[in-house]
Amino acid sequence: MNISVIGSGHVGLVTGACFADLGHQVLMVDHDRKKIAALKAGKMPFYEPGLEELVHRGVEEDRLRFTTSTAEGVRHGTIIFLCVGTPARPNGEADLTAVEEVVRDVAQAVREYRLIVEKSTVPVQTGEWIARICRGSVRRGVACDVASNPEFLREGQGLQDFLHPDRIVLGVESKRAKELLLALYKPLNAPAVVTDVKSAELIKHASNSFLAMKISFINSVAQICERVGADVMQVAEGMGLDRRIGRAFLDAGVGYGGYCFGKDVAAFTQIAEKLGIDFQLLKATARVNAEQRQRLVKRVEEALWNLNRKTIAVLGLSFKPDTDDLRDAPSIDIIRSLRQEGAVIRAFDPQAMAQAKALLPGVTFCKSAYEAVRGADCLILMTEWNEFKELEFARIKKLMRQPLVVDGRNLYQPKTLQQLGFRYIGVGRGEPWDQR
Ligand code: UGA
Repeated sequence: MNISVIGSGHVGLVTGACFADLGHQVLMVDHDRKKIAALKAGKMPFYEPGLEELVHRGVEEDRLRFTTSTAEGVRHGTIIFLCVGTPARPNGEADLTAVEEVVRDVAQAVREYRLIVEKSTVPVQTGEWIARICRGSVRRGVACDVASNPEFLREGQGLQDFLHPDRIVLGVESKRAKELLLALYKPLNAPAVVTDVKSAELIKHASNSFLAMKISFINSVAQICERVGADVMQVAEGMGLDRRIGRAFLDAGVGYGGYCFGKDVAAFTQIAEKLGIDFQLLKATARVNAEQRQRLVKRVEEALWNLNRKTIAVLGLSFKPDTDDLRDAPSIDIIRSLRQEGAVIRAFDPQAMAQAKALLPGVTFCKSAYEAVRGADCLILMTEWNEFKELEFARIKKLMRQPLVVDGRNLYQPKTLQQLGFRYIGVGRGEPWDQR
């Protein structure tokens, strides 16, 4: 099948490369000339495990091409995926300027049947607006369908999530659109939820908001655990075995970050507000998440007495492992707050340091975890990269000025570190009964 994907950001590029790998003919469209030139030269605009190989294979086997021309994209693809950005406005609402502009360009270039599919996360009723633009701009007698096919890709696991999804959501308004999309996804052999466009749009916002709510819920439970001396990891385990609840997204920590959850919770809250609904659960989700970052700063301060002139090693900067993405990363807020209190920061991240340098002036960026902890009064584990799982803590203890570990992801066994002589502070891991 011929497919065009407009927007070569995280969602667009993973989608395009994966469809090409399934055997479809894919044309990637982006108005950013530099990005397209880099992609043609085989360079990826961001880090995503396995993506580079997939793109190279698609290009070599002539199933994946790149262009800056939307008109060429419309000529090529019977199905046109919209994967352009929907950033947040200052009030949290999604900014749909890019979507509107692209849809106008697409509609004007349509000469025969085309299926326009929203894949970016958009507010409910965006599909109606797209259809309205198409009705006004597409030539008379030419049929055009609009569909919603939200993505559920996690950064760092994008390929795996695309190729082995829990479900595919197809919001369609015609038999033709439904059949085209079902045929496109057939090789994945995944359960499909076929519904109307508005319900599909809502499934995406509701899913991300629900996952964010789970995280804020367990982070609130973690606070109770700290006060009474219980272990939030055990609580999550016990809750998660109940199939109605599930264990996923019950990891307490420094809170969620990234491009999606913060933006989508805010946008969903705004959508509700516009409809006259006060979605308090979502407001609380966002508030708990913001407080969680400051709570970590407070715990470091309590442990060190004063932050002024204390050296703090931060391991991990990206909002989660296996990505170089720093958008809304908890590390940024936390490091800025620590620096405001006079702390000196030494940081290391396996992938995100190049971007971090611009965002975090005054931070010393180190070549390894061991270099970062040299002379530090505290080690903060911010992102649970694999390479931080098996650190040599005996060596680290010798390098640090004070043996203090603040584990923002509950990655380590408190007992193991305590036996090595560290003071260990996790999230929601209260002191055991006999040590209180
Ligand atoms: C999220 C969703 O999981 C995807 O399904 C969705 O497609 C994507 O947003 C999107 O809308 O594009 P992503 O933001 O890449 O994916 O990352 P997640 O793995 O969901 O993690 C988000 C944040 O929550 C991270 O900062 C992570 O560390 C944090 N998190 C996750 C927790 O603090 N606790 C958990 O138990 C799980």
